Amino acid sequence: MKKYVLGAFVMLSFIYGCSSDELTNPLDVDLKAAVRKASPNGSLDHFILPSSTDYASIPSDPNNPLTETKIELGRMLFFETGIALDPLFEESKGTYSCATCHIPEAGFMPGRAQGIADGGSGFGVNGEGRTKLFFYDNDEPDVQGARALSVMNVAFVPNTTWSGQFGGNDNNVGTEDVWEGFTEINELGLMGLESQALEGFELHRMIVNGTIIDTLGYKPYYDAVFGSFPVSERYTKLTTSFAISAYLRSLITNDAPFQHWLKGNEFAMSDEQKEGALLFFGKAGCYKCHNGKPLNNPNQFYAIGVKDLYEADEAINTNVNDLRNLGRGGFTKKEEDNFKFKVPQLYNLKGGGFYFHGSSKRSIKEVVEYFNEGVKENAMVSNSRIAAQFHPLGLSEEEIDKVVLFIEHSLYDHEFHKHVPQQVLSGNCFPNNDALSRVDLGCN
Ligand code: HEC
Ligand code: HEC
Repeated sequence: MKKYVLGAFVMLSFIYGCSSDELTNPLDVDLKAAVRKASPNGSLDHFILPSSTDYASIPSDPNNPLTETKIELGRMLFFETGIALDPLFEESKGTYSCATCHIPEAGFMPGRAQGIADGGSGFGVNGEGRTKLFFYDNDEPDVQGARALSVMNVAFVPNTTWSGQFGGNDNNVGTEDVWEGFTEINELGLMGLESQALEGFELHRMIVNGTIIDTLGYKPYYDAVFGSFPVSERYTKLTTSFAISAYLRSLITNDAPFQHWLKGNEFAMSDEQKEGALLFFGKAGCYKCHNGKPLNNPNQFYAIGVKDLYEADEAINTNVNDLRNLGRGGFTKKEEDNFKFKVPQLYNLKGGGFYFHGSSKRSIKEVVEYFNEGVKENAMVSNSRIAAQFHPLGLSEEEIDKVVLFIEHSLYDHEFHKHVPQQVLSGNCFPNNDALSRVDLGCN
C-alpha cells in the first residue's frame, strides 16, 4: 500500500518536475520549521554542537586555550586515583577520582542518587554498586547535597553547579558581594569551569604538587603543556585545573543522531524520534527552557518544584536546611531566586538512572510524566514561585513515549568512550581503586 502511494507521488513529482527536495519526508520539513522557530536567529546552527576537536569553536577561558596535549593530560588527571591523597582515613588513600562521581557510562553522573568519593567503596556496573564505608560516620564521606551534574557539554555552561555559583563571568557579574567561602575563588577572574575545577581538589580531598606530579610520572606532560609557566608555578592546582577543564570542554556530544540530523542527514533519526522531537519543539514546550546547543539554558534558572536530595533513599550528609535546596537563591541570597535551578543539558542522560537535582526520578519517562502533569512535588516550594512554563501539557501516553525516545536515543552520542583514557600514569585502577571497585572494574 505504502509503495503505491510513494510510487504515485514519485510519478506526480516527475510529471510536475518537482525538485528532489520536495520528495523528502514531510516530518523533516515540519521538524526543520519547528527547530528554526525555536531558534532566536531562525537558524539550525543555534543547536549544532562543534566537534570535540574544533578548538576554535568550543567556548573557552582566554586564560586557558585548548590544545590537544593539554586535553590528553586532563583526560588522565580526571580519572587519576593517584591524586586522591587527602582522605579522612588512611585506608581510602588513592582510591577515588573526579570520575568516581562523573562516570562516562552513566552520562558523566554518579549512577546513583548521590556520588560518594572519599568514604565510599565499590562500583557495580555503572556506579550503582558504591556504598558508604562502615567506619565513616554519615557526615564524614565526600558527598554533596545535590545530584552530580553531568559534565557533558559543560563548555556551554558559563557558571557551573545547579546554582551557577562559580565564575565571576556572565550571570555572576554583579554578585560580587556574596562571594564567600568556596565562591571567593571567583575573584581570580577565571571562567566558571576553571574556577570550580580549581576549588574541586580540596573539596574532593585531592592533592597536587610538584612532588606528587613527578612521582606519578606527569612531569613531562606538564612541561610540554605548561612550558610557558615558570617552574615554580608549573606543577600546581592551577595548572592541573586548567588541564582538567580543557579536557571537560572537549566532552561534546556532536555525534548524537539529532546532531547528524541537524547537519543534514535525514536518515539519522527514525520517524518516531522525529515525532518526539516535534513534540519537544512544539506541543510539549520543552524548548522554551531547554534551548541552545546542548539544550540547556546557560542564563536562566527556573523553579519547577522537584524534591530535594535529603528526601531520596539512602541520601547522607544533607538535610532540610541544606543551602543547596534553595538553588540559585542559596548563592545570591536573593529571595526571588529561591528554589530556582539551572536548566541542565539533555545529552547522554539515559545511563544516569537518577534525574533532577534531588534524584527524585528514576527514568526519563518519569521526568517527562512529571512535566506533563505539571504539578510540583516539593511542599517547600509555593505555587507562586513555579515557572510559568511549567504547567499540564496534555500529552497522550504515546506522545510521552515519543518524547522519551527522542531524549534517550536522538540525544545520545555513542562515541563517548573516546573520552576515556587507555591508562592513568600511576597505573592505578580507575575511576575507583578500592578493593571492591577493583573487582567490579576487572582490575585484579
Ligand atoms: C563526591 C562526588 C563528586 C566528585 C568526586 C566530583 N564531583 Fe563534580 N559534581 C558533583 C556534584 C554533586 C555536582 C553538582 C554540585 C552542585 O550543583 O552543587 C558536581 C558538579 C560538577 C561540575 C559542574 C557542571 C555544571 O554543569 O555546572 C563540574 C564542572 C564538575 N563537577 C567537575 C568535577 C571535577 C573536575 C572533579 C574532580 C576535581 C569533580 N567534579 C569531582 C559531585 C562530584
Ligand atoms: C520551566 C522551564 C522548563 C521546561 C518547560 C522544561 N524543563 Fe526540563 N528542566 C528544567 C529545569 C530547571 C531542570 C532542573 C530542575 C531541578 O533539578 O531542580 C530540568 C530538568 C530536566 C531533565 C533532567 C536532567 C537531569 O540532569 O536530571 C530532563 C530530562 C528534562 N528537564 C527534560 C525536559 C523535557 C522533555 C521537557 C518538555 C516536556 C522539559 N524538560 C521542559 C526546566 C524546564
